Amino acid sequence: MTMSFNTLHTPALQTKLPKVGTTIFTVMSTLAAEKNAVNLGQGFPDFNCDPHLVDVVTQAMQQGRNQYPPMAGVAELRHAVATKISTLYGHDYRAADEITITAGATQAILTIILAVVHAADEVIVLEPCYDSYVPNIELAGGVPVRVPLTPGTFRPDFDKIAAAITPKTRALVINSPHNPSGTVWTAAEMLRLQEILAPTNVLLISDEVYEHMVFDGQQHQSAARFAGLAARAFIVSSFGKTYHVTGWKVGYVAAPAPLTAEFRKVHQFNVFTVNTPVQYGLAQYMANPAPYLDLSAFYQRKRDLFRAGLQGTRFKLLPSEGTYFQCVDISEVSNLSEADFCQWLTTEVGVAAIPLSAFYGDGFDQRVVRFCFAKKDETLNLALQRLSLLSIK
Ligand SMILES: Cc1ncc(COP(=O)(O)O)c(C=O)c1O
Repeated sequence: MTMSFNTLHTPALQTKLPKVGTTIFTVMSTLAAEKNAVNLGQGFPDFNCDPHLVDVVTQAMQQGRNQYPPMAGVAELRHAVATKISTLYGHDYRAADEITITAGATQAILTIILAVVHAADEVIVLEPCYDSYVPNIELAGGVPVRVPLTPGTFRPDFDKIAAAITPKTRALVINSPHNPSGTVWTAAEMLRLQEILAPTNVLLISDEVYEHMVFDGQQHQSAARFAGLAARAFIVSSFGKTYHVTGWKVGYVAAPAPLTAEFRKVHQFNVFTVNTPVQYGLAQYMANPAPYLDLSAFYQRKRDLFRAGLQGTRFKLLPSEGTYFQCVDISEVSNLSEADFCQWLTTEVGVAAIPLSAFYGDGFDQRVVRFCFAKKDETLNLALQRLSLLSIK
């Protein structure tokens, strides 16, 4: 008997993420490469990391640290992270059952959400926000609840946050220092959040990947500093951001033991473990706190160089209190939408930027675009030279 159906037929899928396409970061980076534009769009450094870090990772490989590490991460690295958090933020996490090494912050956040969000649970995100949060919530079968940060200042609106909490709210995601706006939450804002969450069972997912990039003498207000927040928080950070190695994709999650236990159940069947030699290398490298303690000054100088260069243009500079992002208002430069403006800027001026509308579910356009200044001075100077085309007449 011959088979009557087509054996080469690829079954059609019902997408789990109907709204997800190619991200704006990929679109702008591709266009920037095509047009030979200076890419200040996607957030990554164009300079290398400390060669000593490469040495210690290489040594770990040469010493045969090349097989599976423990599921939660190499003990030395978990201890180094616990010591750092204790020293900087005054909260003691146990390396054994409260710290887990992850394949970057992105995997950490997805794994947290898969571990805690049940079908129809609500998760509050504050827009504009990092583009993985909402698809992560949807993959878990949860319902994203979008609360805007105050337009113009990007500060949290606590009345709106409090009003968004319902009996179905499982978690709230916060991000300080904030991508894309560069705002840094104050201690008063963290205390207000603590007060709002106190009578609830809402978990806090605190994305702190830019924790070591805070300017003008301000301090990073980790959720770990606030006992009432730490008790309900998953704190996420990324070695990629801190040590200029975004391509290594290694980060961590710190959370109270019962939360970590649930996190690890998903983590072990998600990535199981994270690459071994990088973990040993990072553990050794972290013995010296100088690289992360000096990072704010390193990026503040770049921020100041970039801002000074933009002073003579028609861009209106928004504050950049932390991160490696500088947002600008484009209304005096162009009538185009943010997205069209970024296309135009890349194609005609030769500098790529990211529209803030990309960080909103409804594409809200407030005439603001984001530049990344994690670049060599010569790259920033080249971009500034091109952007001087938009100078005040
Ligand atoms: C706010 C925020 N969270 C998480 C990440 C992802 O970090 P990682 O590269 O460690 O996955 C980024 C990277 O751009 C980010 O900006």
